[in-house]
Amino acid sequence: MSTPPKTVLHASQAEAEAIREAVRKADVSGLGPNRALAEMKHVPGLVELLSDERVSGPIYDLPRPITTESVTRWVAERQAEHLAGEGLLVLTLDEAGKVSGYSHIAVWPERSSAEIGGAIRADLQGRGQGGSGMRQSFAWIFETLGVRLMCLTAALDNVRSQKGIDAAGFRRMGEREVVRPDGTTRNSVYWELTREEWEKLHRL
Ligand SMILES: CC(C)(COP(=O)(O)OP(=O)(O)OC[C@H]1O[C@@H](n2cnc3c(N)ncnc32)[C@H](O)[C@@H]1OP(=O)(O)O)[C@@H](O)C(=O)NCCC(=O)NCCS
Repeated sequence: MSTPPKTVLHASQAEAEAIREAVRKADVSGLGPNRALAEMKHVPGLVELLSDERVSGPIYDLPRPITTESVTRWVAERQAEHLAGEGLLVLTLDEAGKVSGYSHIAVWPERSSAEIGGAIRADLQGRGQGGSGMRQSFAWIFETLGVRLMCLTAALDNVRSQKGIDAAGFRRMGEREVVRPDGTTRNSVYWELTREEWEKLHRL
């Protein structure tokens, strides 16, 4: 389960509905080239991607174990979330059409808030793609979905994620215990950033 931010914002009904509509209508090509919303036809590619511990190991909210059945259920839940305007599961496809990365954006319209998690295939890690992809995703979420707050978590030993998130200007706010789908917990570094802060950092 994704976890909403520590800071609680209250959206008006109109704001929450506008966010839901933005999520439902989102054109995910704005997140970068070769992006697609996850569909059932992508399950085998996702199983292959996520079966690699170098990809899925650091991510707390993925189903475990990674099997065709668990990933099918996960994609179906994310599709329902999209219809409700509460989330997007966005895939990156390589030149051969294989799934080479994913981002899951969880949205809480009533709190004008979102969280993102994701991974890229092991052979593509450590080449600067993740850092630039993170910045592009943060900008897109604030600008296109219209939320006013984002939160992020990363495992205490996930140096690459932590560097990318710090570099984008997110504020560290201590640690947070996150709950995996199997009920076990993990301590994580925790960050937040408001849309106003993002705009000051990146537009001025
Ligand atoms: C996290 C992830 C998306 C980062 O993407 P990436 O393309 O591998 O990372 P980058 O090459 O852009 O590097 C990000 C930062 O880590 C640094 N870095 C890269 N490899 C590193 C290493 N082995 N040790 C220490 N720092 C490293 C980079 O210099 C960069 O720092 P900078 O912003 O100060 O320049 C990717 O590694 C991944 O998918 N990992 C597995 C899943 C995961 O951890 N997801 C995130 C959960 S929060």
